[in-house]
Amino acid sequence: MQANIFAHRGASKYAPENTMASFSLAHQQGADGIETDVHLTKDHIPVLMHDERVNRTTNSSGYIKDYTFEQLRQLDAGAWFSPEFAGSRILSLEECLEWTQDKSLYLNIELKNNKIDYKHLETIVYDKLSRYHLLHRTILSTFNPISVKRLKHLNQNIGVALLTSKRSRNLVSAAKDLGANAIHIKYRLLDHLLVDQSHQENMAIRAYTVNRPRQMLRALSIGCDGVFADVPEMAVHYRDQF
Ligand code: G3P
Ligand code: CA
Repeated sequence: MQANIFAHRGASKYAPENTMASFSLAHQQGADGIETDVHLTKDHIPVLMHDERVNRTTNSSGYIKDYTFEQLRQLDAGAWFSPEFAGSRILSLEECLEWTQDKSLYLNIELKNNKIDYKHLETIVYDKLSRYHLLHRTILSTFNPISVKRLKHLNQNIGVALLTSKRSRNLVSAAKDLGANAIHIKYRLLDHLLVDQSHQENMAIRAYTVNRPRQMLRALSIGCDGVFADVPEMAVHYRDQF
């Protein structure tokens, strides 16, 4: 099967990450899917941002969990990247799902619950995906192993990936024991053996973040099932040539 290209936080090399500009550009560049990160606001609205705090990617400071959605909406999520994107807004998960609905795109929604274990995050995200009929083309992922279990408990049939930046000897069996369908691993930890072990256990394996042609070609040649790229057009180009 062809490897899938997920735009990492959208086409985040060219537009501010996790904004509509970044997602639209990823779609234009031919990405198969969008990768995004979700946190909960003070009023329990799932929003798309990478960090726990707003400091790096907005004109304000503090934790997402201490802002209401309406407060977050007042922030500028684009000017930090370039003046061209000033006025970009933080998106709710719901806005992204609405945008995705009529497009032929996969979603990889990363639950950012490894540092702050947001209460009910799994259920809130699951219910939204269910309401938008997008469960069948979504992979939920998390660095939090307990959250993998909670997700599979909600629905055995949803696609869930265990994220990891470490490579332990029993990684594949540990992921399998949690019920994960896939492993999403840091690119530099990826090799042929791990790909084969994952496939033997009927698990997909995808690598983040692949931004160089040499990395892309290597990932393809060892049978990686997908990559996360800040530059989706490059990854799509090499995948299509392969
Ligand atoms: O989902 C792959 C990748 O996004 C995980 O790392 O830190 O970029 O969210 P991070
Ligand atoms: Ca992520």
